[in-house]
Amino acid sequence: MKKSIGINTFLFPLPSVVVNTYDESGKANMMTASWTGVVNSSPSMISVSLRQATYTHDLIIKRQAFTVSIPSKEHVLEMDYVGTLSGKRVDKFDQTGLTPIKSDLVDAPYVSEFPLTLECKLVKYEKLGLHTLFIAEVVDVKIDEAYLNEKGMPDMKKIDPVAYAHGEREYYEIGNYIGKANKMWQSTLLNEVMNTEAKKDIIQLVEEYYEKMDTGQPFSEFIKLINWSEFVMINGDLKLDSPKKYASWYSDVLVTMFNRKHTVEKLTIDSVDDKTYKVKMDMHFRANEWTPGEATSKTIQVRGKIEWLVSRDPETSKMRIDKYTIKEA
Ligand SMILES: Cc1cc2nc3c(=O)[nH]c(=O)nc-3n(C[C@H](O)[C@H](O)[C@H](O)COP(=O)(O)O)c2cc1C
Repeated sequence: MKKSIGINTFLFPLPSVVVNTYDESGKANMMTASWTGVVNSSPSMISVSLRQATYTHDLIIKRQAFTVSIPSKEHVLEMDYVGTLSGKRVDKFDQTGLTPIKSDLVDAPYVSEFPLTLECKLVKYEKLGLHTLFIAEVVDVKIDEAYLNEKGMPDMKKIDPVAYAHGEREYYEIGNYIGKANKMWQSTLLNEVMNTEAKKDIIQLVEEYYEKMDTGQPFSEFIKLINWSEFVMINGDLKLDSPKKYASWYSDVLVTMFNRKHTVEKLTIDSVDDKTYKVKMDMHFRANEWTPGEATSKTIQVRGKIEWLVSRDPETSKMRIDKYTIKEA
């Protein structure tokens, strides 16, 4: 049974970031904040909650702006320092040797040495008690290119931010990549634990394959891999119970489908021999179908059971699909 330890704001883990402002004389100031979070996606909005006694508190109200810079672990000492002393008494940029850069879009500086910055315009604020909640719109994100992944997105591993544990007031480094959000459960929680390298590689193959399919890339590949004689799928009131019907349905909708999304609802992986694996999936496919000349699109949903035989390619040492069948739902 769980034990009550009383009332507290123990949200674990918290981010640990630096909020930057200009004071009245134009001096750049920074302070550490962990009471921060995302509060809206569109428009992009974040919040920070600051004690009224901080220097930063009034500066945000006066300048109607701030930036949030996210430091890497290598700057944890500087972050700890700027979260201890107040800009009312010291010049924290001067003391730490960090460099303030004037933001292009808002009346606030950011920290040049920290990889990622959100430039924020104050939208509203509310005194809650000890803290004031500031809600701000993110008007731009600035990042050093070295911290982007190959898709042009911020790379958590490269940024290497620090997590804060409220309670004992400790910093932690963030660990390793575990899996992809909205996809991971498909292959782990509800299914099997990823306990071998081979299984991890197979799951990665499944994820990559359907991600490509959903972005419309290898439909020709997909068609080639279907074993027509074992194929049955149900699509709402349309029963695709023969390869012929499926082929005609598929070629009809192929060019007019969008918002494609495959979901693996259940996945099992069995070893056939030491090189080959049988991968069974319960699959849900959803897309919008649009017929030229019609004003509206309709949603197509297909469920099926799919089986792959998978083995490791000796040349690339990556997993590859050897045989593909789709069975009755
Ligand atoms: C890890 C950490 C997280 C902090 N989070 C917050 C916070 O979310 N809100 C806050 O008001 N103070 C927070 N502080 C304390 C301020 O950073 C500290 O009071 C700072 O000296 C204020 O600077 P300023 O007076 O120059 O604005 C935090 C401190 C640390 C070390």
